[in-house]
Amino acid sequence: MAAAVTAAVSFPSTKSTSLTSRTSIVAPERVVFKKVPLQYTSGRVVSIRAQVTTDTDTQAPPAKVEKVHKKQEEGVVVNKFKPKNPYIGRVLLNSKITGDDAPGETWHMVFSTEGEVPYREGQSIGVIPEGIDKNGKPHKLRLYSIASSALGDFGDSKTVSLCVKRLVYTNDSGEIVKGVCSNFLCDLKPGSEVTITGPVGKEMLMPKDPNATVIMLATGTGIAPFRSFLWKMFFEKHDDYKFNGLAWLFLGVPTSSSLLYKEEFEKMKEKSPENFRLDFAVSREQTNDKGEKMYIQTRMAQYAEELWQLLKKDNTFVYMCGLKGMEKGIDDIMVSLAARDGIDWIEYKRQLKKAEQWNVEVY
Ligand code: FAD
Ligand code: A2P
Repeated sequence: MAAAVTAAVSFPSTKSTSLTSRTSIVAPERVVFKKVPLQYTSGRVVSIRAQVTTDTDTQAPPAKVEKVHKKQEEGVVVNKFKPKNPYIGRVLLNSKITGDDAPGETWHMVFSTEGEVPYREGQSIGVIPEGIDKNGKPHKLRLYSIASSALGDFGDSKTVSLCVKRLVYTNDSGEIVKGVCSNFLCDLKPGSEVTITGPVGKEMLMPKDPNATVIMLATGTGIAPFRSFLWKMFFEKHDDYKFNGLAWLFLGVPTSSSLLYKEEFEKMKEKSPENFRLDFAVSREQTNDKGEKMYIQTRMAQYAEELWQLLKKDNTFVYMCGLKGMEKGIDDIMVSLAARDGIDWIEYKRQLKKAEQWNVEVY
């Protein structure tokens, strides 16, 4: 049975609440916030290696196993707001968080929800941009991963934040095309209305086990759900949750001027050096020993043995978010790692997914 518990939050001591300077989104001075109900239960751990072995054991009758969730899934709300009855929020703040010389712009934005959009870390919301499409119909919603913890950037459970990259590309006819919703969002001024649906998604919910190893693999705006996790782990105090495992973040971006939320993550590392590892892959500035472009999977390959050992543990959870292309790149390095132990990566990954330990949201 899920038991209702309460959480309070306090932030590390730092003065800046300004979001105007690049990547300087930091928590306000220590504040204790209103109590917020959370749902929480403990779960049974199923051994991955045992599952892999069982698969080849043709003698054993199929076990009837009750599904036990390892992620913080109980009580999660989905689709409270749909396109026909959306929530209308207001923009509280919208700030460019990439440098002027970065290839492309990414913005961090905070919307008011008055607590009406009860999301959890790892979920997404839909946004319906203003205006009509080329057929004269209202635009369709676009999904965005939530970049704030459930308590929100102001700690009062009354806001939701996004991290949005402005999509601009040149089409086959040589015309510059602007993505509808991302440009709508990046151009929003404080005070404007924003039409929200959701929350949605269960794939990226955090593990229940506060002692878990949580490996987070992000490219670009794929950082959003991990900022949300990491705030809960390192910037907040909850009565029912104290992270005491290992959080290991790999973030891939094109240039150092596009490193997202870098100062926040460095502050977390300073606060909890034993519990947080942080590795960047800056693709257009760094290379490996062979002179290859430093993608996230290239950086991971430098820790191959360590990562593989972690992946053999029952309480290691991998989360991947960002560009579609990263999934194959990461699979490629995992194939060779698993092969060293005579393990077929694709089958192993299937078992990890079944055990909710391999979680992917790419777009
Ligand atoms: P649209 O107007 O919808 O245009 C997009 C279309 O343009 C593409 O479908 C493609 O047909 C075309 N196109 C795009 N690039 C090119 C190109 N280089 N050459 C030719 N054609 C091209 N985005 C974020 O910024 N942050 C997030 O946190 C985030 N989270 C997401 C979470 C989920 C679960 C999903 C599914 C998507 C997420 N996205 C996120 C992506 C987001 O939903 C939108 O797809 C994105 O913002 C583009 O929408 P748009 O309306 O600006 O572009
Ligand atoms: P690059 O653009 O140099 O090819 P952003 O969303 O801000 O553009 O960041 C995405 C990051 O992911 C960039 O560093 C980009 O590198 C990198 N990237 C592009 N394709 C892949 C891929 N297939 N696997 C991993 N990383 C990728």
